[in-house]
Amino acid sequence: MNILNHLAIIMDGNGRWAKNRSLVRTNGHKKGADVVNDIAIYCAKNNIKNLTLYAFSTENWKRPKSEVDFLLNLLLKFIKLKEELFLQNNIRFHTIGDLSPFSNKLKDAIANLKNKTQNNNGLNLILAINYGSQNEITRAVNLALENGYKITEQSIAKHLDSASFGDVDLLIRTGGEQRLSNFLLWQSSYAELAFTPTLWPDFNSKELEEIIAKFKSIHRKFGAI
Ligand code: FPP
Repeated sequence: MNILNHLAIIMDGNGRWAKNRSLVRTNGHKKGADVVNDIAIYCAKNNIKNLTLYAFSTENWKRPKSEVDFLLNLLLKFIKLKEELFLQNNIRFHTIGDLSPFSNKLKDAIANLKNKTQNNNGLNLILAINYGSQNEITRAVNLALENGYKITEQSIAKHLDSASFGDVDLLIRTGGEQRLSNFLLWQSSYAELAFTPTLWPDFNSKELEEIIAKFKSIHRKFGAI
């Protein structure tokens, strides 16, 4: 049976979920944020050590300003209002991605939740925000050079934002598209990939459980035989 140490999810399909109901796209994002609760609690209760969620990519700035503002505001609300979720379920909060363009209000809320949950030792919930894999790898290479390292696979891996969470074992994308969208490219070199047509707001822990059961039964070879 495979061990699921690091689960990563591309939460896609919020806009279509809203459109299917003749709602504005932002309603889909709002419903999508609720699904994060169910999934985080499932992972915490099932001894999954690391859960990385793609919440805002380096490419998402290309969306209309109103949607970008809504997403960043939703993120701020999530971080401020979900303290109980983290504390009651022994979840530690982390982020990956370049936080520098965010407002001080958002940066402070992020720092505060990281601080308040730093002694939790159950699930690591890692939000990928202003995250792009190419950006992360580029920053890691520069950081390794600044710190006097020769560029090797190990020195790059050591300087990635996600260095302490290990490679991705299972990567799920909801919403029916089959691509990685600049998400954890280095860390997913040998990840098992699962694509489901379910739109993120309709995704739930029951479907997650089914995907994990399938993952556990796969023979992972990592390039060997
Ligand atoms: C992709 O759906 C989703 C996003 C770009 C944002 C993901 C955000 C959430 C799930 C909600 C916020 C999460 C937290 C943790 C606060 P899309 O808009 O590309 O959907 P579409 O492909 O149907 O248009």
